[in-house]
Amino acid sequence: MCGIIGIAGRSQVTDRLIDGLKRLEYRGYDSSGIAVLTDGALDRRRAKGKIKQLEARISESHMDGQIGIAHTRWATHGVPNKANAHPHRSGRVAVVHNGIIENYLELRESLAGQREFTSDTDTEVVAHLVDIELAKGLSPRDAFAASLKQLKGAYAFGLIIDDNPDEIYCARAGSPLALGIGPHKKEHYLGSDAMAMAQLTNQLIYLEEGDWAILRPEGYEIFDETDTPVTREITVIEGGPALAEKGKYAHFMLKEIYEQPETVTRTLTHYLGDKRERPVKGTDLAPAMDFTKFDRIILIACGTAYYAGAVAKYWFEQVAGLAVDIDVASEFRYRRPVLSENALFIAISQSGETADTLAALRYCQEEGLTTAALVNVMTSTMAREADIAMPIHAGPEIGVASTKAFTAQLTALAALSLSAAQSRGTLEDAEILRLTSELISVPRLISEALELDAEIETQAKTLAPARSAFYLGRGAQVPIAFEGALKLKEISYIHAEGYAAGELKHGPIALIEDGTPVIVLAPMDELYEKTVSNLQEVASRGARVTLITDSAGAAAGASMADDMITVPTSDPFTAPLITTIALQLLAYHTAVALGTDVDQPRNLAKSVTVE
Ligand code: G6P
Repeated sequence: MCGIIGIAGRSQVTDRLIDGLKRLEYRGYDSSGIAVLTDGALDRRRAKGKIKQLEARISESHMDGQIGIAHTRWATHGVPNKANAHPHRSGRVAVVHNGIIENYLELRESLAGQREFTSDTDTEVVAHLVDIELAKGLSPRDAFAASLKQLKGAYAFGLIIDDNPDEIYCARAGSPLALGIGPHKKEHYLGSDAMAMAQLTNQLIYLEEGDWAILRPEGYEIFDETDTPVTREITVIEGGPALAEKGKYAHFMLKEIYEQPETVTRTLTHYLGDKRERPVKGTDLAPAMDFTKFDRIILIACGTAYYAGAVAKYWFEQVAGLAVDIDVASEFRYRRPVLSENALFIAISQSGETADTLAALRYCQEEGLTTAALVNVMTSTMAREADIAMPIHAGPEIGVASTKAFTAQLTALAALSLSAAQSRGTLEDAEILRLTSELISVPRLISEALELDAEIETQAKTLAPARSAFYLGRGAQVPIAFEGALKLKEISYIHAEGYAAGELKHGPIALIEDGTPVIVLAPMDELYEKTVSNLQEVASRGARVTLITDSAGAAAGASMADDMITVPTSDPFTAPLITTIALQLLAYHTAVALGTDVDQPRNLAKSVTVE
């Protein structure tokens, strides 16, 4: 989604703003732009497409300045083109914006006689509003504050003003925004996330809902929604800029796939404790996470995080006897769910900023439920607003297609389900210990699964020409089939669907024809035979079947599949964490074979901060 970077300094900022935009590319965008104040005079460049197009415009006609704002836009109102790219300008004002101004049509109509609009965006109205207030003779500070009061919706802004050489104005309501403190407090920054400012500073101040601020080279002032000056805490971000480099890997996605033995270990260490003596380290789970208090769990998420929740439903119900309701966040609050006051709400979100998931969390908070957020970004809005914030420790995930965050979410949820089983007394201690040691062996098994890389790369070449593919599984492998299909469609643009293998006969089998790729997930477990029967049903109708199984499953089903990927043997409890690795590699290599933009697939955003 859209990204913002701003620098208030005394030295040239263009190159550093462009560097910041490149760090925001991972969020997904379709145009970009930059505005700077050169000795107080406003200068702007914008371009459709990738940042290199913007760089080309800057090299055609050089610009530089000491203060500037820049933006990557993911189109919402208006097609991706130069006219709709930010910064938007009106008179003395240039503004970049993330989010949606909900009353923009109303405002636009009210300004129609006085102002000419040059874009289809909701954002442009903000530039006009501030410029109108300035024209009335208000100071920049008063003009900005007065304009904010006229806006409804979700926004994060950065704004600069011609002939006002020392200041950037910014505001946050509904969309995250952070200030950065530069070395020796000689420069200050603005960013929609820590990544944008990673090369500049690790000292951030996250603005709170309704806050607005003025940044200057030597300082900053923050005000709350009543325009009262406030102090906000400084957060020091761990992990340096090196974390955002690809290193020896061709893509961030591949790097992140390979990081999984390490990231899963980190998640396990957090939830099981260093010595891993006890199934779940009680001290890391706030007292509110006493699973005996709850009679059901509500899991809410979007995209890949939703599929992590769908696997966790099997875990919580099977090992802890806890009923789980799971829903995609965009549906949850609008269907007026019947909520039990003894339910524990858990939002699952890599970014901790997804608009629908955040709205669901707030909805449940208003309804008086205990809320938890399982997130990768502990400085995120969800982590700050939930009663209990639980990290997954996956480290920055840059590839739009989520991989290491997914396995880290699964790992945390598996550990939490064991914690619930222990506190609720639904499993014998010996069984909890056995499943815990299975969980502890997951990083090793993932490393072994990664050794299948070259073999899977070869199989991907067979999948690449397909127009459509199906993924089948049973039990906790069903959400893994959904996630595998999602990975393939996200980055290769091949139409792919996941199905519960038992549902096949109720419709999708009509789509099977000669050569249709069907990827069947069937590690050896109590459902193996049933899944293999479904495999035969599609094979006998001409499907090209790839069986993903373990060595026992391979021995039993070898003759029935066209291709086989034999993943390391694991307990059925942890098997979703292993089969998913093969599907990540399959999607990755298929996309590479097709030459798509693996890390920034078309139309997709890493963090979806609008509904
Ligand atoms: C976007 C991303 C997905 C992600 C989903 C939910 O669609 O492209 O990779 O799974 O949002 O994001 P979250 O940050 O809430 O996990």
